[in-house]
Amino acid sequence: MKGKKILCVGLVCVDVVQVCPAFPLEDTDQRCIEQHWQRGGNASNNCTVLSRLDAECEFFGTISGGLFCGYVTNDFETHNILVDNCVYHDGCDFPLSIVIINSENGSRTIIHSNKNLPELTVEDFKKLDLSCYSWLHFEGRNIQQVKLMMEYAISWRIQHKGQFKISVEIEKARSEQQILATAADVVFVGKDYACFKGYTSMKDTIKKVKPITKPGAMIISAWGESGATGFSDEEDFVFTPANIQQKTVDTLGAGDTFCAAVIFSLNEGYSLKDSVWFGCQIAGAKVGIPGYTFLKQVSDKYVKELLLRSKAEKDEKNHSP
Ligand code: ADP
Ligand code: FRU
Repeated sequence: MKGKKILCVGLVCVDVVQVCPAFPLEDTDQRCIEQHWQRGGNASNNCTVLSRLDAECEFFGTISGGLFCGYVTNDFETHNILVDNCVYHDGCDFPLSIVIINSENGSRTIIHSNKNLPELTVEDFKKLDLSCYSWLHFEGRNIQQVKLMMEYAISWRIQHKGQFKISVEIEKARSEQQILATAADVVFVGKDYACFKGYTSMKDTIKKVKPITKPGAMIISAWGESGATGFSDEEDFVFTPANIQQKTVDTLGAGDTFCAAVIFSLNEGYSLKDSVWFGCQIAGAKVGIPGYTFLKQVSDKYVKELLLRSKAEKDEKNHSP
């Protein structure tokens, strides 16, 4: 939908990233190979990727004033990510993650702290003008309030004949996350959550989550190097293998990249099959580079390929007897 934005609701934090030659041994003192800060948090990362794909997007969350506030808001601005509706809280500690990247295999180990920043409330959400958006994506956190936001969005959509889609990512290993799956048109289920629930594969995850989703919902399960599988009534199961790189450099935010790329593609009107394919290409390309700075350079060819794939599929359909 031209002129409408993709809204991502959730966390922004600062990631202090230390790249180590190998995963550190406990109680040792050593130097890292590289160190930098980057803006992090699932919804904030989703927006970074969407902006690299040239989608108009907005981050909606709480932001604490003080030390890191300027850094984070400048960075949002540099990426053309709107933050006009964020709720600011002075005198709180900024959520912070210490991230260890193991340069041997690109694994990321995250130690997160969020001491006292208040979460968004449904009352904050009700102040948004929902007619501005083509897509609302919710990070699976702050469960009770996010559930209310999703329910409010659904009733707004019915009342105003709205066209936006609603998605959610259930990722963290906490059982209460599941109730969010009941209110979304598109449900992303992360590997960490699936493993925590004892699901054995992507198909198993989709089958187990399906009974609680609303009729007609799409369900997508991403599973690291195994790739991703989606399901919809229309397209049934669709699978894409991971886009394995010569060297896996940085897997921080791979799942956030995948979700953002799939949302981008669905929002452009591509099929679930093509969108899951696109998500895997972009997330794969991302793990082959450090951070997100060069994501546009490595993703442009997949944007072009997405268009060609979809055209070829339509032509094939039109020519089949
Ligand atoms: P999370 O960051 O939530 O743990 P995953 O590890 O499940 O996310 O990865 C999400 C998607 O990113 C996968 O479906 C895959 O397409 C891609 N991906 C993750 N790790 C790799 C990897 N090592 N090589 C290529 N693609 C990867
Ligand atoms: C990656 C990420 C990091 C952040 C952490 C919060 O998915 O969003 O940027 O530090 O998760 O849980």
